[in-house]
Amino acid sequence: MGRVVVSKHPLIQHKLTLLRDVNTEPKKFRELIRELSILLAYEATADLALEPTQVTTPLGRADGAMLSEKIGLIPILRAGLGMVEGIWEMMPTAEVWHIGLYRDHNTLQPVAYYNKLPVNPTVQVCLILDPMLATGGSAVAAADILKDWGARRIKFVGIIAAPEGVQLLQERHPDIDIHIGVIDDHLTPEPRLPTDPPRGYIVPGLGDAGDRQFGTG
Ligand code: PRP
Ligand code: URA
Repeated sequence: MGRVVVSKHPLIQHKLTLLRDVNTEPKKFRELIRELSILLAYEATADLALEPTQVTTPLGRADGAMLSEKIGLIPILRAGLGMVEGIWEMMPTAEVWHIGLYRDHNTLQPVAYYNKLPVNPTVQVCLILDPMLATGGSAVAAADILKDWGARRIKFVGIIAAPEGVQLLQERHPDIDIHIGVIDDHLTPEPRLPTDPPRGYIVPGLGDAGDRQFGTG
């Protein structure tokens, strides 16, 4: 069974609190998504394989090690986009492959609209990037696409999850490790009053991660 790793890091908890704040503006929100992504990816990549090597320093030779696996960053559009840049700076040789999915408002089922993966896999480790794991449908669909492509090692890196999403992803892809900043309480039910939020949002969550990043809410 894949691991569910909920970060205990104080920096992550601090930044997550700022991220959730309804008063956090899109510019600050994007900065926080970027910083949280770096911290979460740091934890998620702790078991990457290394190849021993040697390096010449100004004073001699030193034993060293280099990453031996090709890494793919797979942001789920749109909200996963904001997670790419910071992680990519840490791993500049990673490949970035976008997967376009949105949730149908009525069914909450993911609808695929963009995928330009080449015929054969080009990376050994895939990090699916999406700040929100709500019902889990989008993450499962992304993992399905990557496995059909031939990806063998996949990790999910997210910022806020609902218990429902963690459960679905574990059930459908028990080999995938889930790295997350926090697991929240529940998902919003079917609205009964006009003022109720739409169904399927994480509570307390942060609202719509795509809208808050791109200023479209
Ligand atoms: C959000 C989020 C995830 C998905 C999570 O995307 O970024 O991809 O919802 O929900 P799920 O776990 O129930 O599938 P959304 O569909 O709102 O698309 P957007 O990022 O383009 O706004
Ligand atoms: N997508 C979001 O952006 N937020 C949620 O709470 C759930 C899905």
